[in-house]
Amino acid sequence: MALDRKTAPNDLNAFWMPFTANRQFKKAPRMFVGAKDMHYTTADGRQVLDGTAGLWCCNAGHCRPKIVEAIQKQAAELDYAPAFQMGHPIAFELANRVIDIAPKGIEHVFYTNSGSESVETALKIAIAYHRARGEGARTRLIGRERGYHGVNFGGISVGGIVGNRKMFGTLLAGVDHLPHTHLPQQNAFTKGQPEHGANLADELERIVALHGAETIAAVIVEPMAGSTGVLLPPKGYLEKLRAITRKHGILLIFDEVITGFGRLGSAFAAEHFDVLPDMMTTAKGLTNGVIPMGAVLTTAEVHDAFMQGPEHMIELFHGYTYSGNPIACAAGIATLDTYKEEGLFERAHELEGYWQEAIHSLRGLPHVIDIRNMGLIGAVELESIPGEPTKRAFQAFLDAYDKGILIRTTGDIIAMSPPLIISKSEIDTLIGKLGDVLKNLK
Ligand SMILES: Cc1ncc(COP(=O)(O)O)c(C=O)c1O
Repeated sequence: MALDRKTAPNDLNAFWMPFTANRQFKKAPRMFVGAKDMHYTTADGRQVLDGTAGLWCCNAGHCRPKIVEAIQKQAAELDYAPAFQMGHPIAFELANRVIDIAPKGIEHVFYTNSGSESVETALKIAIAYHRARGEGARTRLIGRERGYHGVNFGGISVGGIVGNRKMFGTLLAGVDHLPHTHLPQQNAFTKGQPEHGANLADELERIVALHGAETIAAVIVEPMAGSTGVLLPPKGYLEKLRAITRKHGILLIFDEVITGFGRLGSAFAAEHFDVLPDMMTTAKGLTNGVIPMGAVLTTAEVHDAFMQGPEHMIELFHGYTYSGNPIACAAGIATLDTYKEEGLFERAHELEGYWQEAIHSLRGLPHVIDIRNMGLIGAVELESIPGEPTKRAFQAFLDAYDKGILIRTTGDIIAMSPPLIISKSEIDTLIGKLGDVLKNLK
């Protein structure tokens, strides 16, 4: 019988879900229908404690009044304005507000709609920057194994998560990769930054020697690799990358899509680690995940390289229909207000010690082979079931959801990044329930 689509709005067939086991999901759907502060409400009326800030993005928690109001007001006042050759005031206001909290030396903001678009934008700016300065041979891009830089072609080319790359052909030419920094033999169960591995940054010298510095445009890394399962930079590693890139005239891009806006207890990882990149890619926490928006932040040097030639000419042939969308900008300003008024970055910093002890209390539970943490982020790595990678952690995810907590898994790693408004008792609940899940996991 033909399906009456009008009366079957919840037929699950049409929506091809992203990064999801579609067939498994549609057999036993997990639906959220509401959210407030630290909790989601499920379709069957249960409360689920959000251990992941949605997808590492709702740093101020859910349905926060100031952000809701700002969006409603802006939608009624100026819903959309073209971003090319036209402006509207709050796009400039938000850019200034972002620069106010960015590390000193970062001075400009280019708007996108997502982390993936921020990455594409930064890579293009890097290549065009060198060309604008007469170094058009600098076109190579260096990423890192296990890196995640979104899902567009540039991002998966410099990215290093095999599953995200292997189905999609030859990707961008002229890309090379640094080794990842995961050294479980030396660094397992480290609290905060690991001791070992700074020397892995020296691999950049080898890559430079192989290709010639004069062919390399940029190095892009996540200062803390999130999506691959929370890999923290070894002590001294980012400083070395900065020194080597500077020495060879190569731009350094920090992908701060996860680390930006308070996740590590500072506004940005660049500030946290005291290493200044030439560009930073952001998204997620910029609008508390509420309205899609991203931004590339650059130094004056990068920006100013484009500000030449006749003044009536477009300087950078790049942009999106929704770059600086008014409603997204309103959400962004209200989000930054909320972070500031509630001191949420400081709060993440203050809670770090409590969070660290809580998550490391899971050491010794069945299958746990590593625990890592920093700021309000943490990961518990499980031993894989032989021949069935990802299955054990995915089962933990399903069991956790049944117990009323939302966690995230990647491979056999459980990652957590709760909203920065989490209380100590909610940390206890999150970790306590996860402990129960792990105790009963096959
Ligand atoms: C470091 C990093 N870069 C880029 C992205 C892609 O962002 P989006 O999903 O908004 O395109 C992500 C998403 O998790 C990320 O963690």
